[in-house]
Amino acid sequence: MCGIVGYIGREQVSPILLDGLTRLEYRGYDSAGLAVFHPEKGLQVVKARGRLQALWDATQQGQAVPGTMGVGHTRWATHGAPNDINSHPQVSQSGKIAVVHNGIIENYVKLKEFLEAKGVVFASETDTEVVAQLLEYYYHGDLLDAVSKVLHRIEGAYALGIVCADEPEQFVAVRKDSPLIVGHGVGFNMIASDVTALISYTREVSYLNDGEVAVLTRDSIQVYDSLMRPVTKEVVHIDWEISAAEKGGYEHFMFKEIMEQPKAIQATISPRIQNGQIVLDELNITQEQLQQLDRIYVIACGSSYHVGMAAKYILERLLRIPVEVALASEFRYSEPIVTERTLAVVISQSGETIDTLAAMREAKRLGARILSIVNVVGSTIARESDDVLYTWAGPEIAVATTKAYSTQLAVVYLLALDFAKKLGKLNEQEYETLVAELEQLPEKAQMILDHTEEIQYFASIYFNHNSIFFIGRNIDYAVGLEGSLKLKEISYIHSEAYAAGELKHGTISLIEDGTLVVALAGWNTLFEKLMSNVKEVKARGADVIGVATQTHAQKLSTQVDSALVIPDVHPMFLPSLEVIPMQLFAYYVALMRGCDIDKPRNLAKSVTVE
Ligand code: G6P
Repeated sequence: MCGIVGYIGREQVSPILLDGLTRLEYRGYDSAGLAVFHPEKGLQVVKARGRLQALWDATQQGQAVPGTMGVGHTRWATHGAPNDINSHPQVSQSGKIAVVHNGIIENYVKLKEFLEAKGVVFASETDTEVVAQLLEYYYHGDLLDAVSKVLHRIEGAYALGIVCADEPEQFVAVRKDSPLIVGHGVGFNMIASDVTALISYTREVSYLNDGEVAVLTRDSIQVYDSLMRPVTKEVVHIDWEISAAEKGGYEHFMFKEIMEQPKAIQATISPRIQNGQIVLDELNITQEQLQQLDRIYVIACGSSYHVGMAAKYILERLLRIPVEVALASEFRYSEPIVTERTLAVVISQSGETIDTLAAMREAKRLGARILSIVNVVGSTIARESDDVLYTWAGPEIAVATTKAYSTQLAVVYLLALDFAKKLGKLNEQEYETLVAELEQLPEKAQMILDHTEEIQYFASIYFNHNSIFFIGRNIDYAVGLEGSLKLKEISYIHSEAYAAGELKHGTISLIEDGTLVVALAGWNTLFEKLMSNVKEVKARGADVIGVATQTHAQKLSTQVDSALVIPDVHPMFLPSLEVIPMQLFAYYVALMRGCDIDKPRNLAKSVTVE
């Protein structure tokens, strides 16, 4: 959601900004723009609505906008429609100061009124323009001083890139509650919303903390804290391969990432299993703290929340500690019952989702210990947690998550088994069996991925449906939620997931001739019950795709219209296998409907506004 890139150096900046923005496209946006300084032309601002290609075209691949210092932005509209006026950069009245912004300035109305009373005329409907105008109001020849004054007046979440035509030898970056990274180059320096925009230029980065301000010149980066005292930042080396963030011959990132799942699960679990024992060196939680836990909250949004739903079944079953799964956006306002004996397990691919971050801070404030499961190294959630277990999925570019979901699940298994062992809830033999099963997951996932034709065929039969239901019981229900979300996200088909037994308490009224129901029946002991639910919907005219393990393959094929069989697996690990046909089904359906799979409408990969 909103992408920022900034560069100061010796090269022509526009192609660099466009390239960086292209790499940030996946975050989600609906317009884009650049502000570039040139000694003769001054501050040039170019914006274009829609896809980034429009900005590449408008600037003749960047060649028409010369200069060696500038900032670029992809905007996901919040305040005001996505048009050329509301796109960023937003400029001050004189055109001297340009600002790109990710986040929301919550008190912008008050500030706008204040400035209008002083005669400032606003051009856009955005909250961001207030920052540009306020900077000009406070600017008396010292940009850093103006920035410091503005920071005392604005409230909300922001990552800002600020350029001033009167100070072309530097630009300023600020961060509070929205991600922003500084990249250290030789003869140049950069900022970006995340590392994918930087790694073709530099792998040496620093993460800005909340309230920090960075002043970048060609040859230096000086960071200040919120009181404008200089601070020394740690420089972190990023070792992600650039190719990991490229399509590598696949038509879509989503398909590439689906196919990468066995490798990603392997990378996440292998280093943490030694001689059949799970070793989570990263955890700081002591045996005593573990023994005192009396409640676990899992806090997350979107697909990460669905991992949380599966985690509840797994953790409660193994640990016998009550687990509550909370939507991050609801948690803060629900007066949660949190004590020092609460563990908050925070799940986030990006580590920057603002709702999750805010909920995590609230849990921490109330006394919980925070253990996060995060993919992006150095992200805010990771940095503010007591314990972090990274998923080693590598960069995930498609908006609809697949491999990050799978690696989050893998970490949940590791965590559950490790805690269960430490708490004496599993005997040695049970533990060994489960660890051995866990180690087989990549291979079993690969078995499903080796036969995508069947799923492609089912998609070709059903892609024209307008409404699709997913049903399941227990952990299968958690997978149904994810299957339904995947389909909604990328194919725009209306879909709902229901606990199979609950269907008849209302939703079954929507089932009619030809309605498609996807029945997840992996949980072996509940197979028969699920088949009763299948009969109920079939009796009302539904077409049913059924998913079950090899054990029930034969029976399944007699009960459903289309049967999908996954390898036998311990029920705890079912989500990892069941989700793959769900992802592929959503993918192929979206493909057949001609949807923009990697960049679905209205969605953002990283949601940094509440
Ligand atoms: C967005 C993405 C989802 C993701 C959710 C949570 O809505 O489109 O795919 O599941 O955010 O993101 P996180 O980075 O916190 O896992």
